[in-house]
Amino acid sequence: MSAHGRGWILVIFWFFFVWETVSWKTTSNDTEPVPVVIWHGMGDSCCKAFTLKFIKLVKETVPGSYVLSLKIGKSATEEIENSYFMNVNHQVEMVCNILSNDKKLQNGYNAMGFSQGGQFIRAVAQRCPSPAMKNLITFGAQHQGVYGLPHCPGESSHICNWIRKMLNLGAYSSPIQQHLVQAEYWHDPLNEDLYRNNSIFLAEINQERRINESYKENLMKLNKFVMVKFLKDLTVDPVDSEWFGFYKAGQAKDTYSLQESVLYQEDRLGLKAMDEAGKLEFLTVDGDHLQFSKKWFINNIVPYLK
Ligand SMILES: *[C@@H]1O[C@H](CO)[C@@H](O)[C@H](O)[C@H]1NC(C)=O
Ligand SMILES: *[C@@H]1O[C@H](CO)[C@@H](O)[C@H](O)[C@H]1NC(C)=O
Ligand SMILES: *[C@@H]1O[C@H](CO)[C@@H](O)[C@H](O)[C@H]1NC(C)=O
Repeated sequence: MSAHGRGWILVIFWFFFVWETVSWKTTSNDTEPVPVVIWHGMGDSCCKAFTLKFIKLVKETVPGSYVLSLKIGKSATEEIENSYFMNVNHQVEMVCNILSNDKKLQNGYNAMGFSQGGQFIRAVAQRCPSPAMKNLITFGAQHQGVYGLPHCPGESSHICNWIRKMLNLGAYSSPIQQHLVQAEYWHDPLNEDLYRNNSIFLAEINQERRINESYKENLMKLNKFVMVKFLKDLTVDPVDSEWFGFYKAGQAKDTYSLQESVLYQEDRLGLKAMDEAGKLEFLTVDGDHLQFSKKWFINNIVPYLK
């Protein structure tokens, strides 16, 4: 072969090499799953029992995904304690720091919150727009709070009894608000004024006292906000709270839906605009608190993680 011919062959090889590398890079970027951030529930920790099973489920159903299960405390024991006693506003701040320092999340992430972790991670979406949360999925969250603690999701029933006692003593007194997580999303329909004036977490993120425009703007940046309600939930009172409904003021029997709420009608949080844009998804599971099958997860949740 002439030198001229070999030159051409080299050029062709070089061309294919570059083309292959470039196309491989582009496709690998395109197919890389979006990272997943998880906020566990009350009486739980980042990496044990229920949450561990769930991390495995995500890794199995979304192969190659980077999963960050939030660790709020130095040990499992401390994490469980913090899920009862660490001021939620401080927890949210801590999580915002973790997320903004994690290099793997800088192109955005999908978020999942379990039970109280659901309303907490929603606060992250509202307060900390960077890195960007793409889809938010909450499982049995209490977006309008709770009025009752009928079952304890953790293992410690004596802690729950003690918490009930504190809530009855005065959920809206300042020391209890500052230190008891469940008081910070306690919503007393018989004393709406007290709740509105004194709830340091839930009333604040739900724009009950005043409207922080950035909360609204940030939440509306989500592609999808998926809320999962458990139809036989024995832990959350009322279950409607999982879809932003709650007891009508002055009693604890009849409830209103998100669409019937002032929050929605005045669009204080952008939820009406999101609903109209098709960004809200209301899902149900015919089971008790956080009980769903792998099949249900694959069919209903995995599409939001792609
Ligand atoms: C591909 O991914 C890399 C690293 O994750 C990133 O730096 C780069 O900007 C991405 N390219 C495109 C075209 O998205
Ligand atoms: C609104 O929320 C942002 C984000 O948390 C905060 O930085 C800002 O201070 C808040 N504004 C008001 C008026 O509270
Ligand atoms: C709540 O705050 C408003 C406005 O500051 C006040 O008029 C009202 O009396 C307060 N209600 C209660 C129950 O604290």
